[in-house]
Amino acid sequence: MTSQEENELLTHTGPGTPGGDLMRRFWQPVALYDELPTGSAPIPVRLLGQDLVLFRDERGQPGLLGLHCAHRGADLSYGRIEDGGLRCIYHGWLYDVHGRCLEQPGEPAGSTFHERIRQTAYACIEQCGLIFAYLGPGQPPLLPAYEFLSAPKERRFATKYFQECNYLQGNEGNLDQTHFSFLHRRLHYGPEDHGAYVIEDVAPTLEPEETDFGIRVYSVRHLRSGRNHVKISNFLPPNVAAFSGGIRDGYSVHYHVPIDDTHHWKYLLHFSRSAPLGERTGQVFGAELGPDYRLRLTKANRYLQDREEMKAATFSGMGDFFHAQDACVTEGAGTIQDRTGEHVAYSDRAIVVARKILLQAIRDVQAGRDPHYVIRDESENLFPELVARADELSGDVDWHEHWKTVPKHQHVGAPA
Ligand code: FES
Ligand SMILES: [Fe+2]
Repeated sequence: MTSQEENELLTHTGPGTPGGDLMRRFWQPVALYDELPTGSAPIPVRLLGQDLVLFRDERGQPGLLGLHCAHRGADLSYGRIEDGGLRCIYHGWLYDVHGRCLEQPGEPAGSTFHERIRQTAYACIEQCGLIFAYLGPGQPPLLPAYEFLSAPKERRFATKYFQECNYLQGNEGNLDQTHFSFLHRRLHYGPEDHGAYVIEDVAPTLEPEETDFGIRVYSVRHLRSGRNHVKISNFLPPNVAAFSGGIRDGYSVHYHVPIDDTHHWKYLLHFSRSAPLGERTGQVFGAELGPDYRLRLTKANRYLQDREEMKAATFSGMGDFFHAQDACVTEGAGTIQDRTGEHVAYSDRAIVVARKILLQAIRDVQAGRDPHYVIRDESENLFPELVARADELSGDVDWHEHWKTVPKHQHVGAPA
């Protein structure tokens, strides 16, 4: 059971909170590249309860500063991009991406006051269509060299959507494989349909195991044919999941990034090792997401649940777009789920392990140590055993060993 105190440790991520201190030890996505292409205007962003401005200087270098000008608090997202930085439109103070105040043109000639001013500033890295920021203390760690972060443009797709709830609810949904047999289920599957396995065995065997990179979860469904449907999904603490997502020779990744304690962004990455992804993924998300990265089906319209569809076609009555179904159940648990009232069952085994390692990581930070998953040494920045896949295996194959025998480039993710 999760106590009130543990729930607060896990869910509160604002400045100065233990959970926030943990999240700040990791590079976090702060925007999509598409939100801040070269030459674009600054954008206000909120991350881990902090109001910030993300901009590019004239050289194209991204910078993340406190939103409010160090002078008298004007909103820097209205500022001008010029002269090597971001200039406040109130009195013209100019800041570079490191937060140095380069100019204070309204001060007397010869004043050196600007040398003593520092705007809050955080390091940024661009990778794989995402802009990452490091909000923690000291030297930033390495950006993990996950395979999916190295995919070139034509073999990746990145987007995000807004969630009206605490990040941990989305995070935990990724660790829950049993819900595929209910929430995401269609009522009928044809013989050629990849999704039929979810109704052939609705109570998968679950085996979470701790690894160097986080948690690997085997979820195994015993099929009528005598074969096993084996899915390997992964949790990368503190807020990332990787799992097969219907992508040929690749997989899907979710980052659940707190905006504040009651809202978060779900960043999605799809990547393929060999073939270009094509247009279909973009078209599906284009139809379901608005330009403000809000889902078409929301809490406000009750996710357009259709009771007739529930009788004839889908378990949830919310169409075939899994993300809207996920949003309904994660947001439905409340802005911050009260975990003291839940009844954790066998199907939640992976979630229980994830909470345990997150609490340990929080304690490590409180004790002044790097949490286990922070990487500072290039020689440790390798993830050969991070695989996400789905296979149908004959009943006598040991699924703990099978994936080790398949070269990565032959990995094929079946539909999730
Ligand atoms: S408030 Fe920004 S320069 Fe004065
Ligand atoms: Fe889901």
